[in-house]
Amino acid sequence: MTKHTVVTMPGDGIGNQVLPEAIRVLEAVGFEADYVHADIGWECWIKEGNALPERTIELLRRHKVGLFGAITSKPKKEAEAELIPALRGKGYQYFSPIVSMRQIFNLDICMRPCLSFPGNPLNFIRKKPSGYYEEPKVDVVVFRQNTEGLYAGVEWSNPPQVVRDALRTHPKFKPFESVAGEDMAISVRIITRPAARRICTAAFEHARKFGYRSVTICEKPNVLRETSGMMEEVAKEVQKRYSDIPLWSTNIDAQTMWLTKNPEDYGVIVASNLFGDVISDAFAGLVGGLGFAASGNIGEQVAVFEPTHGSAPKYAELQPPIVNPIAMILSAAMMLDHLGENDKACKVRGAIAAVVAEGRGRTYDMLRIPGGAKSLAQGAASTTQMTDAIIAKLGTPVEEVLATGSGRAGR
Ligand code: NAI
Ligand code: MG
Repeated sequence: MTKHTVVTMPGDGIGNQVLPEAIRVLEAVGFEADYVHADIGWECWIKEGNALPERTIELLRRHKVGLFGAITSKPKKEAEAELIPALRGKGYQYFSPIVSMRQIFNLDICMRPCLSFPGNPLNFIRKKPSGYYEEPKVDVVVFRQNTEGLYAGVEWSNPPQVVRDALRTHPKFKPFESVAGEDMAISVRIITRPAARRICTAAFEHARKFGYRSVTICEKPNVLRETSGMMEEVAKEVQKRYSDIPLWSTNIDAQTMWLTKNPEDYGVIVASNLFGDVISDAFAGLVGGLGFAASGNIGEQVAVFEPTHGSAPKYAELQPPIVNPIAMILSAAMMLDHLGENDKACKVRGAIAAVVAEGRGRTYDMLRIPGGAKSLAQGAASTTQMTDAIIAKLGTPVEEVLATGSGRAGR
């Protein structure tokens, strides 16, 4: 077995609490790796004027796989005011290190599994016509294009004249021609065929590998004819190579409306950047929210796995820590899948499933009580206790449903 080297970037706040817990689980499941710490986040910004130092980029370039906790970011003026005096007024600009990382390494595939663990009190329940309630099994994996679309950052307030001149060549710009520059803001939605092809192919590959019965492209091609139109066209073209997996098409607005109606009917969902962001958060809300939402940012060379949550500064100083480590541990399991260690990934998911089902230890979020110093006295498990419970269950026989990476739902 090859020994891997993993770049660990705990970052800020609770990133420092949850990432070491994930490493404890990885070690307990027998994953052989060296861990190399890399600096990232607010401290780097304050002291160096750069939240993603070159040495961290170099480590990722060398070792190719990273685990990331979370970072803190603040609005422009606050960010500048916190720089050490020697750096102030020198034109340093804050950029989100995670966004920079995605751009530098072209981590264009964002994968976000949303899997409901039976027994999780945060799972979505639905009222049946009979008046009884049922808990639909949610097992969705969202593939979100991570680098283009409305998040590419090609945008202006008070757009320069050349931009306005270019837009004037489009007949639909006519109603905007007389709007004053300072009253106008523009964000450009760019979709490219190669990137669309990569995200759609990744979605179908995942569906095939893990036995999902369908892929759904979630866009808005009836209105965004060019960009969503291209996404849908590419999805159809890619589907031809996967004749056993049907392609469904939904509109983002209707998809969110149907979210609670039939979430069990969806398997793999693929979408452009903004719509993928929206729909993955929406599905994550059905399966436990931030304490359970894991993600992978995957490029051709480098991949970085991270929980979806941020640095939760209000809990960062609490001792012992109280936040839920499961999102981070699930992200580490995604890393195991990525490195070909699917058996170990399944053991980790199986252990989480067992702990959630047993229900003896629950972090404050799972109990729906306020987070804070008193949470533990109210019966919540601490971050470490939750991890200990997961480690203790690593030997649990893995249900088939977890053996495939996520499951086999979808219509
Ligand atoms: P957040 O995700 O840090 O926290 C929001 C709330 O969710 C927390 O107050 C807490 O109640 C709950 N929460 C988050 N993670 C949890 C966990 N593991 N277990 C239990 N409860 C949890 O988002 P917020 O407060 O909007 O942002 C805080 C900082 O994090 C900001 O500086 C923001 O820019 C940054 N951020 C960073 C992200 C990243 O590193 N990828 C993503 C989102 C926000
Ligand atoms: Mg989001």
